[in-house]
Amino acid sequence: MKKLILFAVAFASVHIQGSAQPNGMPHLEKRDNHFSLIVDGKPFFVLGGQINNSSAWPTTLPAAWNSAEAMHANTVEAPVYWEQVEPTKGAFDFSPVDLLVNQAREHHLHLVLLWFGTWKNGQNHYVPEWIKSDPKTYPREETAYGKLLDVMSPSSQANLDADKTAFAALMRHVKSIDSTDHTVIMVQVENESGSVGSIRDFSPAAQKAFESPVPADLARTLHLRSGNWTAVFGPDADESFAAYTTAHYINDVVAAGKAEYPLPMYCNVWFAYPVHALENRDRPSAGQEYPSGGPQQANIPIWKAAAPSIDMLAPDFYSDDFTLFRSIVATYARSDNPLFFPECRFDATFGRYFFYALGHGAIGFSPFGIDRAQQPEVPNPQGIIASAATTPINPAENYALINPIEQQIAQLNLEGKLYTAVEDKGAARQAIHLPTADAVVSFGYPQPDGTYPPGTSTFHGRAMVAELGPLDFLVAGFDASVSFTLSAAELQRQPNQQLEILRAEEGRYVDGVWQTARILNGDQTDRGLNFRSSNPTLVRIRLHKLPLYDEAIHRDAE
Ligand code: DGJ
Repeated sequence: MKKLILFAVAFASVHIQGSAQPNGMPHLEKRDNHFSLIVDGKPFFVLGGQINNSSAWPTTLPAAWNSAEAMHANTVEAPVYWEQVEPTKGAFDFSPVDLLVNQAREHHLHLVLLWFGTWKNGQNHYVPEWIKSDPKTYPREETAYGKLLDVMSPSSQANLDADKTAFAALMRHVKSIDSTDHTVIMVQVENESGSVGSIRDFSPAAQKAFESPVPADLARTLHLRSGNWTAVFGPDADESFAAYTTAHYINDVVAAGKAEYPLPMYCNVWFAYPVHALENRDRPSAGQEYPSGGPQQANIPIWKAAAPSIDMLAPDFYSDDFTLFRSIVATYARSDNPLFFPECRFDATFGRYFFYALGHGAIGFSPFGIDRAQQPEVPNPQGIIASAATTPINPAENYALINPIEQQIAQLNLEGKLYTAVEDKGAARQAIHLPTADAVVSFGYPQPDGTYPPGTSTFHGRAMVAELGPLDFLVAGFDASVSFTLSAAELQRQPNQQLEILRAEEGRYVDGVWQTARILNGDQTDRGLNFRSSNPTLVRIRLHKLPLYDEAIHRDAE
């Protein structure tokens, strides 16, 4: 009989909890150092896709929506260009925003709007013409030798006022069209801010500020001694000054926008990649290899102190170095900073990084350039060119798996009950240490008895284990098998016990209710639950503990 066996049992341990906020306004929630975005009162996991820089136009958007749908995304990240929406000072045209919002709704997608304002990749390329052509009124950064850069000075009140006015107008408009529907769930303010071309602004106004005492608010928050920038920060004075002025500026822009419509707002980060070319250099050069003063790793404390209105500093990740990815996760997942990846490569690294982020509390994830046909083969700012070797294995499988359970995933994450294992070179078998048992994950096939798993040639094996109850798990993965054992610590505590599967069900959630398609047993469970590639399946497994030797049974038998 082909009919699904329907178990109308609600998702026992994952009660999607409502959250008090007027009209279901999107906001961030924190529970015991775990975070979630809450949309319409429910936890929401951003399965995002960012479109190419020049794709938020009527001619290119259809391809973007198609790509988002094909990869099972629930959210599109799309730019709003300052030069387009304010072509003349004070004359706003937000019809491009209306187009984005209306078309996103037609495609049942949410939006993260990216404000391409004063900064785009450490430069000013999206400021309107009336700003570009008037550097007297809207000052540029200057190098130490007085060269004007294509970077706006963050020490200029005129620049700040112009951006604030435009961004506040944008948020007022978003409120007017979307405060009921919540199609727009977050806003990225500026894009990879900082200065490309100089370690800091040396214009006369900036120089004067640099020679003045470090502002008292920063000194107080970071417990600094008093003095000017050089006295307080020594060799880091130039970049620290750039970080403070940039963070302070963007904080004011964010605050002006939130005063109109307080959506969660974040800044994406072009972080400092390690220097590989010259081994004896310990760090890359600010302003040359990454934008100086942006929220890169070393600048986080200054940004957090100077920009309390910014909800998240969110790293863009463009490397296939998994060790580096793990260190970036560790750096940006902080108790004062929800983890969110607004950009990463749309290639074979997508699946493993997505799973790793999922198991480390991320509130969302988004590859860049999902409408790839619109993108010529150019290096990104980090100098990496997409190649055939980095072509995605299957861009749809990750979100296809998670999209139907996105709400439960966000809730489990908020409760700290979501775990993942991601294959790495030399680590084809890994244990996930859960509170009540270990999940042992073996990557690659075939897995003959008694041998170490072979792993995969591209290290793309990955698995997820969600803890629904002490011995009740939701499991999924790609090119992985998952079995459960009692942990060494548990056996030491209580040696006379063993673990046994009560029931393993393959199925899916429909409106939060688990539906069993079949019960797995025999070859499908005896050597672990099997998850082959390109076949997104969910398994719910319940286990129990049994004594190894039960004295009572023997006593009764005598
Ligand atoms: C990072 C930027 O934030 C994006 O807007 C885009 O330029 C990508 N790099 C291109 O790789």
